[in-house]
Amino acid sequence: MMKTIGVLTSGGDAPGMNAAVRAVVRTALKKGMTVYGIKRGYCGLIEDDIEEMNAMSVAGIINEGGTMLYTARSAEFRTEEGVLKAVETCKKYGIEGVVVIGGDGSFRGAADLSAHGIPCVGLPGTIDNDIACTEYTIGYDTAMNTAMELMDKLSDTSQSHYRCSVVEVMGRGAGFIAVNTGVASGALEVITKEIPYDMDAIAKKMLEYKAKGKQNFIIVVAESIGHTEEFAKLIQEKTGIETRATILGHVQRGGSPTVRDRVVATEMGYYAVELLEQGIGNRVVGMQANKIVDFDIQEALSMTKPYDERLHHIAEDVAF
Ligand code: F6P
Repeated sequence: MMKTIGVLTSGGDAPGMNAAVRAVVRTALKKGMTVYGIKRGYCGLIEDDIEEMNAMSVAGIINEGGTMLYTARSAEFRTEEGVLKAVETCKKYGIEGVVVIGGDGSFRGAADLSAHGIPCVGLPGTIDNDIACTEYTIGYDTAMNTAMELMDKLSDTSQSHYRCSVVEVMGRGAGFIAVNTGVASGALEVITKEIPYDMDAIAKKMLEYKAKGKQNFIIVVAESIGHTEEFAKLIQEKTGIETRATILGHVQRGGSPTVRDRVVATEMGYYAVELLEQGIGNRVVGMQANKIVDFDIQEALSMTKPYDERLHHIAEDVAF
């Protein structure tokens, strides 16, 4: 049985990471383990930026956005030398296993560390929901709710001016945030790289709907499309409808986590410690059919996640 574990958050932060850290720390303490909080992701392991946690260290954080352990994307950890330094630090503290909360990049690091004798368990923490082995990633729900609230505000001002708002949402390479917030905000169109789109057809549709009385238009664009300002200019040119571009950006990463994010983070954190307790590492925790499950890291990284094309078409069909 493991006696000492570490926990870190890595990559882009996501609301609910704190809830996951809290669950890991409290579960481990209940099992009689010693737990170390590793700061700034893998950088903390390389640079020995580590603190022992107790029950109070994680008090009052379940409702906080960001991550109390801070986060980073460590270039050095991608080198053999970096991994060896991290292993040395683990040995110094007697850390026998690590819970890594982050995305695919962080899981690659977790696989490297596992291969060097420090079993790691990954927890999916990213607003993008772009981790294939899990239906759900910690932070996704909060980010979508934040984006939706902001789009509602944009819809108010677009309506007052009879305008079109082109809104860019995050998601890295994936359109999951875009399609769901598009449906939730009543968008006319969702533009993601998963489904081809045609500017002329969009413009024609806008003019048809305008003729039938539609007064404001929301077009949601996934960040992977890349040129939201030009997209908005083109819409204005083609339709004559005044159009503004808004890039929501990093506001989507902040804020107090929703119920779903807090609950999933807690369940996954609990599960990760149970795995490490049994000496099981090189795993990623995920959610399948609402159940918490785990996968081999390499297997998880080789999986692909389908895009919900039906939802994409539904969004457009119910727009007017
Ligand atoms: O993975 C989360 C995310 O916010 C993506 O949606 C986005 O592409 C990226 O991180 C932005 O990264 P950074 O915080 O380094 O600007």
